[in-house]
Amino acid sequence: MSRTEWTDAEKAQLREDAIDLIIPHFASNAELSKGPKVFVRGEGCFVWDLDGNRYFDSFATLLTTVCGHVRPEVTQAVREQMELLEFFPNYVDAFTVPLIELARKLKQLMPGDLGVSFFVNSGSEANETALKMARQYHLERGEPHRFKFIARRDSYHATTLGAGAVTGLRWFREYFEPLMPGALFVNAARRRDVPEGMSEADYTAHLLAEIEKLIGDEGAQTIAGFIMDPLPGSNTGYPLPPEGYLQGVRELCDRHGILLIFDEVQTGFGHTGKWFFCEHEGVTPDIMTVGKGFTGGFIPLAATVTTPRVAEVFRRGPGTELRSGSTYGGHTVACAATLANIGIIESENLVENARLQGEYLKSRMDQMREQHPIVGTASGIGLLWALQLDVDPKLGVGTWIRDWCYSHEMILRNNGDILVLAPSLVLTRDEADFMLDHMEEAIVAAQEHYGVG
Ligand SMILES: Cc1ncc(COP(=O)(O)O)c(C=O)c1O
Repeated sequence: MSRTEWTDAEKAQLREDAIDLIIPHFASNAELSKGPKVFVRGEGCFVWDLDGNRYFDSFATLLTTVCGHVRPEVTQAVREQMELLEFFPNYVDAFTVPLIELARKLKQLMPGDLGVSFFVNSGSEANETALKMARQYHLERGEPHRFKFIARRDSYHATTLGAGAVTGLRWFREYFEPLMPGALFVNAARRRDVPEGMSEADYTAHLLAEIEKLIGDEGAQTIAGFIMDPLPGSNTGYPLPPEGYLQGVRELCDRHGILLIFDEVQTGFGHTGKWFFCEHEGVTPDIMTVGKGFTGGFIPLAATVTTPRVAEVFRRGPGTELRSGSTYGGHTVACAATLANIGIIESENLVENARLQGEYLKSRMDQMREQHPIVGTASGIGLLWALQLDVDPKLGVGTWIRDWCYSHEMILRNNGDILVLAPSLVLTRDEADFMLDHMEEAIVAAQEHYGVG
């Protein structure tokens, strides 16, 4: 359906049915009461709504559209695959050519010897699979009592019952407890939170000692894995880990036979200025999950990728196979779209573009900090940035700024008084200025509105 024009009566009906017939993910009744937003068209970093208004999307369509909206290369790949074979399941002993080619591509791009993939439909499922993979890995090796997972208090891994159990943020857990048993939480590790009077090295040592004590208290022989988002996401404003922390965690996991799982669903595929965030730290996990930008938003697909050492236990003979699966995991057309998406990232050097534009974003946000009293520090890397506002949280300044931007042609994600800038990797310098100028104008307007600063 390529229609872009509707009568007023049709628009009203679309909006009414949106509210009546659909429960949105992470629905907000407060926002819905102002009327639903209905989008009809996209191009590059921009989308258009039902009334023909254009918006710059500074959140890359929930961090998916790494190479922008509506890419003819992807359309062509999808059409060709649709005309050949739209779908055959990756089931029992069956594969398709795009699936195999995508697995090869992942092996080539991933750090270390990560390169054996299990394909699923979403980041949530990828994390569910990572947990199951770790548990069955130990079971196959004669340690079935290793069922617990260490996770971190500020992490987000999904809203499903397994990955939700290792998600630290309470809002996602509280209505659904008891969740999967065996989740053990340790403190968040944020370079920006080094306590006063403590060096960064001492802070890292303190965090690692906490983990080691937990392992000792619980018994290493009961712990299957440590799951973490090595760079936590937009919910907590992309806090970088303190120096040496990830290396220290890797060493602890190795010493205690615990599998290290990195959730790079949000940070993978170039957002941070490298293909994967863990490459900035030189640390490779035993299992990595990817989604979102992996497929560029074109068709859902995600993956749980592990090493030959882990995968080997599922290939030892009948009965040792990984007990997991779904109908559409590794969908043929989704693989074709994802290969085309990755092809664009490579041919247009988008990972490097993310690094370069990210440096520019950082320098402009630092300038804003000097010029506008309510602007606090910016945290992040590449094209994943969060700007903390220095205001009384009760005022709701972040949400006011978000709404100001929306009425001035820009979608901005905020989490309270954290403003997120995480655009597509195709961002040009002009678009970076468009986005930053809008945010700055909104900040100035907010200062006037609230009489602050
Ligand atoms: C770090 C992280 N892990 C997992 C997920 C879940 O992925 P999905 O929403 O595709 O199921 C998300 C989604 O926001 C995420 O940011």
